[in-house]
Amino acid sequence: MLQSRHLIDLADLSVSEWEEITRLACDIRGHIDDYYGACRGKILATLFYEPSTRTQMSFQTAMLRLGGRLIGFDNPGNSSVSKGESLKDTIRVVSGYADILALRHPVPGAARAAALYSRVPVINAGDGGHLHPTQTLTDLVTLRQEKGTFSGLCIGLCGDLKNGRTVHSLIKAMAGFPHNRFVLISTPDLTIPSYIKDYLAAVGCPYQELDNLMEAMPELDVLYMTRIQQERFASPEEYERQRGIYVLDREKMKRGKKDLIVLHPLPRVDEITVEVDDDPRARYFEQTEYGLFARMALIMKMTEAAGKRLESVRGGEEPLCANPDCITNRERYVPRSFRKNGDILVCDYCEERTLL
Ligand code: CP
Repeated sequence: MLQSRHLIDLADLSVSEWEEITRLACDIRGHIDDYYGACRGKILATLFYEPSTRTQMSFQTAMLRLGGRLIGFDNPGNSSVSKGESLKDTIRVVSGYADILALRHPVPGAARAAALYSRVPVINAGDGGHLHPTQTLTDLVTLRQEKGTFSGLCIGLCGDLKNGRTVHSLIKAMAGFPHNRFVLISTPDLTIPSYIKDYLAAVGCPYQELDNLMEAMPELDVLYMTRIQQERFASPEEYERQRGIYVLDREKMKRGKKDLIVLHPLPRVDEITVEVDDDPRARYFEQTEYGLFARMALIMKMTEAAGKRLESVRGGEEPLCANPDCITNRERYVPRSFRKNGDILVCDYCEERTLL
């Protein structure tokens, strides 16, 4: 049974719990039919306020393969959200219908806010450019299967490191294992957010920042490519300035190690050429299948934890979060909550820093 009722950030789970879930996912992969019926009688609600192929369908397939059932929406325009219903009200209502919720939302911190109002466990299926912990569980299962270890790896992350929530979650997870180091490859405009650098510094995990993918290739054990997140840019012109700068092609693959693996959370746009798909080191389509087993394992573990007490709601006269897109600014009834780091307040929802 998991200690935490919700999965908002992978940090909600201990390292031993991640390992337990990834071990279970690997067992499910080998014996999927044996798990049919593990969630018989349970209902998963998938509430997707943003588009998705893999996350939504793998959650749905996972519940069906466990013998459970589904409700939800994949377009808030077809729900009462289109009539102005708040996140709070939607969550209160749907948590009366389902045993577990998977929420994707464009606003950072939305999943943590939803957890305040839900009577059942909430899984963060991506909150804006913030976090995507179930993608990270997918990535951990992939690494367990494809590399056989979580430690001693040189991990390159390339592309939109600013807005790529999968990158943020993966760094936070892998920095917790010994002897890993990161090579962060991006343009100066799309570097990793400060709170992730603070996290790396706090746990003593080494990293370097580069703007040249070709240069980085020879030292990498894992290359994690990412899409430039068009939907997070303020204007089409800003997106156009960033697109097409990093393209993994056959020439660059020639400089990679023989046992390199290339991952990508997908969808891909133009950052990996299709010829790379035939290279045995390209593992991104296998990665999507591991995502199904990871989510089956997670749903099983989280529905076991469903009897636990609800988290308390924090309130008080807290300052406004400095991030205008934070859920506490978008939906003002959400009680603000911060943790203190010296002279800085770190928002519990979106992790933006606010000076005292
Ligand atoms: N990796 C991922 O989150 O893909 P989708 O947006 O298709 O769910």
